[in-house]
Amino acid sequence: MSEKHTLVIVVGSVREGRFGPVVASWVAEQAREHGGFEVEVVDLAEFEIPLSLPASSPKYAGDAYPRPESMAPLTSRLAAADAFILVTPEYNHSYPASLKAAIDWHFTQWTAKPVAFVSYGGAAGGRHAVLHLENVLTELHAVTIRDGLAFPNYFTTWQDGQPLDPAAPGYAKTLLDQLAWWAAALRSARETVPYPA
Ligand SMILES: Cc1cc2nc3c(=O)[nH]c(=O)nc-3n(C[C@H](O)[C@H](O)[C@H](O)COP(=O)(O)O)c2cc1C
Repeated sequence: MSEKHTLVIVVGSVREGRFGPVVASWVAEQAREHGGFEVEVVDLAEFEIPLSLPASSPKYAGDAYPRPESMAPLTSRLAAADAFILVTPEYNHSYPASLKAAIDWHFTQWTAKPVAFVSYGGAAGGRHAVLHLENVLTELHAVTIRDGLAFPNYFTTWQDGQPLDPAAPGYAKTLLDQLAWWAAALRSARETVPYPA
């Protein structure tokens, strides 16, 4: 087993003028400095992700699931991931529809893999969004990471692409340490015994 795990950092918002890529870029920098991961940033704005789904469920269709051809690079990157960080804002006390659509077009790509969260927003720092994501990802048999990062009122607490809180890189390291532990444990388990989903 190679020492580095493939980490996919998902930019969950696709809104015009969004802040998501700034947060994702900082998270990617922390993950590269951590050293335990091959880091990829996947920006949902770069893919066609229709709200209308096929009749069948991706849970049972496997590779035969009829996704739009242009979604193939997204699907293969999710499939190749050993670990995920979802970077999410909070929209009306939840996470954006773009992220839900990307999740729902897939199933096995999330199964038996660890998922961590970095959120941002107003006073609540995106925590409502993360609570909802934890619930959703459990249905997909993903393992959610307890320690996340939440950035409340990011419009006053970030400058030049960096959070002003000097403790933030330390929180990121804790998240990444936990994510790396789960990535190794679950990758080894997936390679040893097929997950009984
Ligand atoms: C439709 C919408 C709903 C929002 N609802 C909330 C909310 O419930 N709580 C919150 O803290 N911020 C809320 N916000 C503020 C967003 O967290 C903030 O605009 C953030 O920048 C959005 O992320 P983005 O720039 O990556 O799209 C909302 C923003 C939008 C566009």
